Amino acid sequence: MTRTKSSVIEVLKGVIYFAKGDNIVDLGMVDELEVADNNIRFRLVFPKLGEASVNIVMGAATKALKAAFGEEIKLEITPIAEKDKGRGPLAGVKHIIAVASGKGGVGKSTVAANLAIALSRAGSQVGLVDADIYGPSVPMMFGTENMQPGVYEKEGKPVIVPIEKYGIKLLSIGYFVDSNKPLVWRGPMATTALNQLLSDADWGVLDFLVIDLPPGTGDIQLTLAQSYSVNGAVIVTTPQKVAFADVKRAATMFKQEKLTIPLLGLIENMAYFTPSDSPEKKYFIFGDGHGQQFADELDIPFLGQIPIDEKIAASGDNGNPIALDENSPVTKAFDEVAVRLREKFQ
Ligand SMILES: Nc1ncnc2c1ncn2[C@@H]1O[C@H](COP(=O)(O)OP(=O)(O)OP(=O)(O)O)[C@@H](O)[C@H]1O
Ligand SMILES: [Mg+2]
Repeated sequence: MTRTKSSVIEVLKGVIYFAKGDNIVDLGMVDELEVADNNIRFRLVFPKLGEASVNIVMGAATKALKAAFGEEIKLEITPIAEKDKGRGPLAGVKHIIAVASGKGGVGKSTVAANLAIALSRAGSQVGLVDADIYGPSVPMMFGTENMQPGVYEKEGKPVIVPIEKYGIKLLSIGYFVDSNKPLVWRGPMATTALNQLLSDADWGVLDFLVIDLPPGTGDIQLTLAQSYSVNGAVIVTTPQKVAFADVKRAATMFKQEKLTIPLLGLIENMAYFTPSDSPEKKYFIFGDGHGQQFADELDIPFLGQIPIDEKIAASGDNGNPIALDENSPVTKAFDEVAVRLREKFQ
């Protein structure tokens, strides 16, 4: 085998870190890889050093590389601890996806919750963060209003354990505050709260961490874009042209050079109405094709249409997101979007 970075990566993909149940490449543990002549150098980032698993993984990596490239190869593998590399508990999260819109009430939370379920059904490990500090909706949508995340201490600091429901790891500011009291957050407090949900929580290994954003383009969006490595944003719109004017503003913000959250695509929510007694019928109340047109105008992919269905609101209110119902046409629509998203990260 020729020694190139990509062939080394391929070999290292065969080395499993059992503590996190995946290979060291996909876990993002391989760092500063250099391949030159007869030398292969890289750092291996572990949650902490001094554990038996460190030597096991180092040994397995050495063996795999020698088997692939010959015994004479010179290897320099340096184990380092996550904290020394300045990485936090999000190290095991492979893809962070934000669900955003410039407009309120278009269905961001509905899309985030049901997309999380559809991604999970497709075989991904999924977490959902409710970053709508001002009006959290995840606790109600998942029927977890009365639950509280656990907390444990690690190196003198509290670590939050997300709540798990329907196989999804959940966190929301709603779990920490009294839902009967109005939430009045000032910008800096809101961003501190978001940082705690993201960085002070034990998310473990996840394929996707879906983030439900508040409407608009405020502090929360800015913090997320500047402080975290977000893999992409999904933009939600409804078919009306008035909605799109606001949506366009948000999309443009993510495109700005200093923020650069890649836009993964546009979802058209409430695109058409399907009566429950004739699920094959589609009534395009606001006209068909608007979502596709908006996506073309923004020059981003169109990810799909989600119908209006009275069961969506009811299921959101009673804690069973509609995408759990395998017979619903809405579930089918979300499954299709999930497949398109997963394809982007393969
Ligand atoms: N496709 C749909 N069919 C029927 N009702 C829907 C649909 N999508 C969302 N809704 C309902 O519309 C309301 C607003 O949805 P949601 O809370 O998801 O919007 P949002 O964009 O997150 O709002 P906010 O800007 O307040 O965060 C909710 O009552 C929800 O149940
Ligand atoms: Mg919302």
